[in-house]
Amino acid sequence: MIKHKDHFHGSDLEKIEEIYGIRREEIVSFSANVNPLGVSPRLRSALSKQIDAITSYPDREYTSLRKCIAEYCGTEPEHILVGNGSTELISLFIQIEHPQKALVIGPTYSEYEREIALGGGTTLYYPLKEKDNFHLNVEDFLSHLNESIDLLVICNPNNPTSSCITRNEMRHILDACKQNDIYVMVDETYVEFADNMDEISAVPLTHYYNNIFILRGTSKFFAAPGLRLGYAITGNHDLMKAINTRKNPWTINSLAVVAGETMFRDTEYIRQTRELISGERAAIYRLLQEHPAYKVYEPSGNFLLARILSEDITSQDLFDRAIRRKMMIRDCSTFPFLDNKYIRFCVMKREDNERLLSCLLDSDVRLS
Ligand SMILES: Cc1ncc(COP(=O)(O)O)c(C=O)c1O
Repeated sequence: MIKHKDHFHGSDLEKIEEIYGIRREEIVSFSANVNPLGVSPRLRSALSKQIDAITSYPDREYTSLRKCIAEYCGTEPEHILVGNGSTELISLFIQIEHPQKALVIGPTYSEYEREIALGGGTTLYYPLKEKDNFHLNVEDFLSHLNESIDLLVICNPNNPTSSCITRNEMRHILDACKQNDIYVMVDETYVEFADNMDEISAVPLTHYYNNIFILRGTSKFFAAPGLRLGYAITGNHDLMKAINTRKNPWTINSLAVVAGETMFRDTEYIRQTRELISGERAAIYRLLQEHPAYKVYEPSGNFLLARILSEDITSQDLFDRAIRRKMMIRDCSTFPFLDNKYIRFCVMKREDNERLLSCLLDSDVRLS
């Protein structure tokens, strides 16, 4: 049996091609967390019609794009910053705030820790507990905050646990952080997939709190990781000014501007995506909840975390089993606080979901 020694990020299809000898076009990626609907017809047409946009520099202020994002998020354009993926904005925010001691709720996306370390800061983790199904115990968490911490990072819904924090809980956290002079960075990359997005998103709180910086992107929900278009929402004008002063001009190209202005208004694509993910996620969750081979955690994002209950099977075994059938899942053993009993996979189209579940459960699965 082929055993992989390396661990793969959701986008490492080149590496898979090399190690397993499978052509990347043939692999269905359940590990990239990208919307399976792909590019919408409206976006395809807008990009081809407006290809001449590349003959001029984009507007330095991105005024009309920011207006469009503000309408989409229900806030004001003055509260929006745009970046080359949310990754550029995470990086700029950390360079400017320069945290010495950050607290990250984990297990979570590893990029925050990397950026904090690049700036010479230390990252401490507050672990979500399996016994709580990876839900945050807000009261216990708040008792761990103190003035020595200068930044708190929360991914909501969280990657890889798919658990979420409600806006009401976030309000308590922001109050406590305010008292301790702590900035809060909230990564809402997956929030649009949540059924209860209106109860989760912290965007309305940016009107009342000046210690919150929210990140969003187009890579996952709008299936455009190659476009590199992300944005941030904050009500803190000093922070906004500092980031704009530091930021290189034109990091969002003219085609990404055209794409953004089309995507955020593409109500039909948004509706179809939410409907597809919601229905498939519920069907997968139901099926796995009843199955003795796995424990599955209630998902809010477009992906599920599952714990393997069979003693003799590891996450690496399942990764190998799936990749040999040209499906790539995430072996979660490299996440802090998780081990080789956890896998994560995203929601794709019905036929692909059934194929993956049949592989994971070693029997023919039909979803209903
Ligand atoms: C939680 C989270 N935030 C941010 C990113 C990166 O987003 P972007 O492509 O917008 O830079 C990822 C990518 O996997 C992610 O999982």
